[in-house]
Amino acid sequence: MSLLEVKDLRVEFKTPEGNVVAVNDLNFSLQAGETLGIVGESGSGKSQTAFALMGLLAKNGVITGSAQFEGREILNLPLKELNKIRSEKIAMIFQDPMTSLNPYMKVGKQLMEVLLLHKGMSKAEAFEASVRMLDAVKIPEARKRMNMFPHEFSGGMRQRVMIAMALLCNPKLLIADEPTTALDVTVQAQIMTLLNELKRDFNTAIIMITHDLGVIAGLCDKVLVMYAGRTMEYGKVNDIFYHPSHPYTEGLLKAIPRLDSEGEMLATIPGNPPNLLRLPQGCPFQERCHRVSERCSLSSPALTGFGEGRLRACHWDWKE
Ligand SMILES: Nc1ncnc2c1ncn2[C@@H]1O[C@H](COP(=O)(O)OP(=O)(O)OP(=O)(O)O)[C@@H](O)[C@H]1O
Ligand SMILES: [Mg+2]
Repeated sequence: MSLLEVKDLRVEFKTPEGNVVAVNDLNFSLQAGETLGIVGESGSGKSQTAFALMGLLAKNGVITGSAQFEGREILNLPLKELNKIRSEKIAMIFQDPMTSLNPYMKVGKQLMEVLLLHKGMSKAEAFEASVRMLDAVKIPEARKRMNMFPHEFSGGMRQRVMIAMALLCNPKLLIADEPTTALDVTVQAQIMTLLNELKRDFNTAIIMITHDLGVIAGLCDKVLVMYAGRTMEYGKVNDIFYHPSHPYTEGLLKAIPRLDSEGEMLATIPGNPPNLLRLPQGCPFQERCHRVSERCSLSSPALTGFGEGRLRACHWDWKE
């Protein structure tokens, strides 16, 4: 049994201008300890996918499809059951750590509360467990830092605290939504190394959401490439990197920032992601695609399986 099995996940928002399909029939699965990267530009539906799984969707959103976690449906659960899953099984790290940390409460106290509340530990036990977790995420002088406020930490360290907090209850699945976007490249690399070590030590499955395929390389087993809410391509990380089967993936690969090329112009995919309220007929990527052909505006390419569990949605005659 998979840890997480997502089938035809769809998120639709009702807006005054019409319905927006932010997530369009996604399918993916995750085994225990496995890491899935969800990649795509801004607005492609990455966060809404995570929010749907965590029960954090805005009020005007409607979720359909299915997501089974350890064989149990988790979409549209009542709040009480959701809270239980969110505190014991699935944890999420958000893009901006300041929005999730309470600025008025000492970091140690915030960590300890999680354990007091959900694990029924004594204060002394919770204190020691929190120090150990801060050590595990490589916060120097962890014991001393328990007594500090979030603003006394650097951005990178705050993100480490968030990771520590997310891992305190030993979740089976960690969803990280662009956890390093706000950080500079060096700190970003350190956080990625840390996540890799944590994955190894705790066997936590991870869903890593990012717009940067470079972040995926050293961490993920599988990659889901999203555009306009849809799957463009899905497969093992090496297949995606060395034999991309979709022009959009090719574009994302060219746009990977490199540590050694500071100052050089980064290739970007020309044009902008489409307005979801006015999608063209056919493939949503056609206007920006360097391999576009006539049929792309006539029909939407179906998502088709090939190779070892790979999927692609493209009319281009790509050969393996
Ligand atoms: N409450 C809402 N009502 C209407 N549309 C929404 C709502 N929330 C999100 N959307 C739309 O859903 C689409 C997908 O948003 P999402 O936040 O998942 O993008 P993303 O891939 O996470 O992008 P980013 O990289 O910028 O975080 C966007 O076009 C967004 O405008
Ligand atoms: Mg997002």
